[in-house]
Amino acid sequence: MFVSNFVLVISALIYGAAANPYQLHPTVNSGSSLEAFEAAEYKLAWLIDSKNYTAFGEVLTNDVVYDSTDLGAYGGRSEGLEQTVAAIRSASAGARVSHIVTNSLVFDAITPTKWRTDTYITWSHWVEDALDDITKTFRIFYRCDDIWVLQNGAWKLQYSKVYNMGYGAEAPFYGKKS
Ligand SMILES: *[C@@H]1O[C@H](CO)[C@@H](O)[C@H](O)[C@H]1NC(C)=O
Repeated sequence: MFVSNFVLVISALIYGAAANPYQLHPTVNSGSSLEAFEAAEYKLAWLIDSKNYTAFGEVLTNDVVYDSTDLGAYGGRSEGLEQTVAAIRSASAGARVSHIVTNSLVFDAITPTKWRTDTYITWSHWVEDALDDITKTFRIFYRCDDIWVLQNGAWKLQYSKVYNMGYGAEAPFYGKKS
C-alpha cells in the first residue's frame, strides 16, 4: 500500500500535468484569432460540464445576458455574471451534462473585438435515477446567436439568444434503462 502510494506521488511529481490535468494552456487558448474564439466556446462548455463554477468570469462578461427562453421549461433568462452562473448551476444540479459545441460561424465582425457569431450546441442532460423521465434526462439540439467580445486577450460571451433547432426535448434513452 505504502509502496503504491509512493509510486503515485513520484509519478505525479515527474509528470507535472498529472498533478493538475485541468489547466488550460494560457497562450494557446487566448488571443484574437478564430481559434482562440472557438477555444473560448469549448472552455465555456468545459466549465459547465465539469461544474467548475469559480472560473466563469474568464468566459462570460460581467454584464452577460443569457436568453434561452425558446427552450420553454428547459431554459430561462438571466442577466449578469452572478445570475447566469447561478442559473447554470441550478440547471445542472444532480445531473451529468455534456455540451458538444460545433458549427461556429462569425456572422459579423462588428469590430475586431466584438463579433456576432452563430454556434450549434448538442446539450445532453442525464439524471441517473430518472433516465426514463424526459423532464430530467433529455437531449436538445440548439443554436446560439451570440455576441462575443475580446477583453484583455480573452473572448467572453456577452449576449446569447438560444433557439431550439428541433421540437421540444428528445429522450436519449427512448424509454427505460435496460
Ligand atoms: C477551473 O477552471 C480554472 C480556469 O480555467 C482552472 O484553472 C481550474 O483548474 C479548474 N478547476 C478544476 C477543478 O478543474
